[in-house]
Amino acid sequence: MSAALVGINGFLHEGLKKRIVLADVSKSREIRRFLVSLPILMTKRTPIIGGNWKMNTDLESGMLLAGAVADQFDSCDCCDVVIYPPFLYLQAVDSVIGQSMVSLGAQDIWHASNGAFTGEISADMLKEIGVTSVLVGHSERRHVLGESEVLIAKKMKTSLASGFQTVLCVGETLEERESGNTLSVVLGQVTSGLEGVSASQMESVIIAYEPVWAIGTGKTASPEDAQSVHKEIRECVRGLYDEIVADTLRIQYGGSVKPDNAAELFASPDIDGALVGGASLSADSFNAIVAASCKS
Ligand code: PGA
Repeated sequence: MSAALVGINGFLHEGLKKRIVLADVSKSREIRRFLVSLPILMTKRTPIIGGNWKMNTDLESGMLLAGAVADQFDSCDCCDVVIYPPFLYLQAVDSVIGQSMVSLGAQDIWHASNGAFTGEISADMLKEIGVTSVLVGHSERRHVLGESEVLIAKKMKTSLASGFQTVLCVGETLEERESGNTLSVVLGQVTSGLEGVSASQMESVIIAYEPVWAIGTGKTASPEDAQSVHKEIRECVRGLYDEIVADTLRIQYGGSVKPDNAAELFASPDIDGALVGGASLSADSFNAIVAASCKS
């Protein structure tokens, strides 16, 4: 997680070097507002590690897992940690993570506020039980459950309007990669997912780049391949918004992240953490990935 240098015109002027400020802008809105008023600033993005449990665990094992993660990181402030248990266990998990630094996330959200949507969960329901972060457009929702770009964009809007940190998941299939379409697919998903999202709402957006062929398969994108897509995502966001939004945006990598490959991925300048599936189901491996992000 490297520092990003931002100048008014994208330049770091020799004579202005003493005005550089080093700050973790993703932690505090007030600090961020103050810093953006300075002519030149240096941002350091706080890594964010998410544990996406998917449709795994049961009530007891989920509570034990959450407790083991919360115990390990109750006082760490070098990264953000969020766990995304199944909906049914959110409340129980919330009671376990309590005041620890671990935040509670939901794997999905419905875009309407209430009504005849059998099986769906609204923003208010999630808020009521302590959820602060929401995944939108996860690969399994796109490819297994057939969610469209239109639906994903609606969910993004609802989640952000409701004040959630919102993780927009994007990624190409193996076929799309092999036919040379990785960037057009990924940047297309970024652009369409962010449609109608304002620059100020971008403070609450995280993008998770998760190549579909790497999810749950044991195959990981090489740090170089992942870095090059992350960089393109950041450039795309720069074009859609501005320098500050692009340089403060956190972009997670997801797809078979494990303790053995985490440090190498996190060493890349545009990789700001990970969204972890399989390896988040064991406290030992998830905690090792979180620890690796703190060292990067
Ligand atoms: P994985 O899943 O770590 O098991 O590949 C990642 C994800 O789906 O978010």
